[in-house]
Amino acid sequence: ACERCPLFKTRTKVVFGSGNADADLMFVGEAPGREEDEQGQPFVGSAGKLLTKIIEAIGMTREEVYVVNTVLCRPPGNRNPEPEEIAACRPFLEEQIRLVSPRVIVTLGAFAAQSVLETVEPISQLRGRWHAAHGARVMATFHPAFLLRSPGHKREVWEDMQKVRDYLAT
Ligand code: URA
Repeated sequence: ACERCPLFKTRTKVVFGSGNADADLMFVGEAPGREEDEQGQPFVGSAGKLLTKIIEAIGMTREEVYVVNTVLCRPPGNRNPEPEEIAACRPFLEEQIRLVSPRVIVTLGAFAAQSVLETVEPISQLRGRWHAAHGARVMATFHPAFLLRSPGHKREVWEDMQKVRDYLAT
């Protein structure tokens, strides 16, 4: 029933996180798209199918991890979320991070990295290295929707995910 930002006027469903509430690994995406808004589940569309492959590439499953978005309601027409919308939704994101208390958070795309790390640094600066926030190690990588448009960048995401896999094995 949230009406903390204007997205409530156009959303169909609030899309909370889903997956293993006890996960070591949590992914933070951007915002629900059309299919997510209809189904009330995060990452069920084409970007979600690629995210599932990325998770499986490090030997894990969607069921083992937790997946949530920076903004829980769909921005109309999939426009970028506004700073006020991200700020209005941050308490929900923080609460989900606190409840799951993962060892590693992987942020997908610029908006997730900037919200989780509370920074305005561009994704080009944040990607590919470890950060610390919310009692977890944070790896910033590209968003799977960006990879669908620019598959040439898959290699960087693979390198980032190998770091995540290696750290989780320790
Ligand atoms: N679907 C989501 O749930 N989040 C995204 O960031 C993209 C697609």
